[in-house]
Amino acid sequence: MIELGESKRDPYLANLKVGVVVPAAGSGQRMEGKPKPFLQLDGQPVLRHVLNLFLSYSWVKDVVVALPEKQFQEQPFWLKQDPKVQGVLGGATRRDSVWNAIQVLSEDLDLVIVHDGARPLTSQKTILDCVKNASEGPGAVAGIRVVDTLKTTDKANQVLETLDRKGVWRAQTPQVFTYDLLFDAYHKAIQNDWIASDDSIIVKKAGGQVRMVESSGSNFKITVPTDLDLAEAILTRYRF
Ligand code: CTP
Ligand code: MG
Repeated sequence: MIELGESKRDPYLANLKVGVVVPAAGSGQRMEGKPKPFLQLDGQPVLRHVLNLFLSYSWVKDVVVALPEKQFQEQPFWLKQDPKVQGVLGGATRRDSVWNAIQVLSEDLDLVIVHDGARPLTSQKTILDCVKNASEGPGAVAGIRVVDTLKTTDKANQVLETLDRKGVWRAQTPQVFTYDLLFDAYHKAIQNDWIASDDSIIVKKAGGQVRMVESSGSNFKITVPTDLDLAEAILTRYRF
């Protein structure tokens, strides 16, 4: 797989037009009701780390961030610093936020990367692996294989059975698709009110193919308060 330096010279990537959609409009119910993309991490907001993951690529042409009402009305200065970035008002669910963002993307894009605004530790390798995979056909979803033994339980936590974890993954973002596939799939999802916690559910349901791309555990989504400490520890240790 390609490394960052190599990719900057990669003539194929250089010819791609890629858009980025960042759903960042959640209310952070599991984070004491604080919107996670606007919490401070190592001296800057989580969302600023996320934008920095993508903005240095010349093939990233357009970045649309779905924002909560408050941040949409009073957009922070750092969101307006790069002309590639624009904010839209998010929706009631992640699905609605992503759809609001997709609709304002420019239409001449080859690929669209959807990346959570609460996932700041994604490696450049994972981004590039997903983009390369998606440019070869099926949609590409970053994820990790499940390593723990999986149990199902009843309401009293009594174990019912142990599941076979072979072929079971935890899906993360980036999730990368061709523009047409993503737009058409989301259009159908909104028309038919499909419930979906990620983009690949929608693309699969609309008939598209999706392939998992092995990422790493450090690409976790900041979800609960201790995740911020963990992210800070990883960032200050590795400075990537
Ligand atoms: N998101 C969004 N619009 C929503 C809900 C979520 O743009 N209506 C975004 C979040 O801001 C986050 C990503 O989707 O970047 C993943 O969602 P999640 O981790 O569930 O964030 P929240 O919904 O904010 O958190 P919680 O579920 O704990 O309330
Ligand atoms: Mg949520």
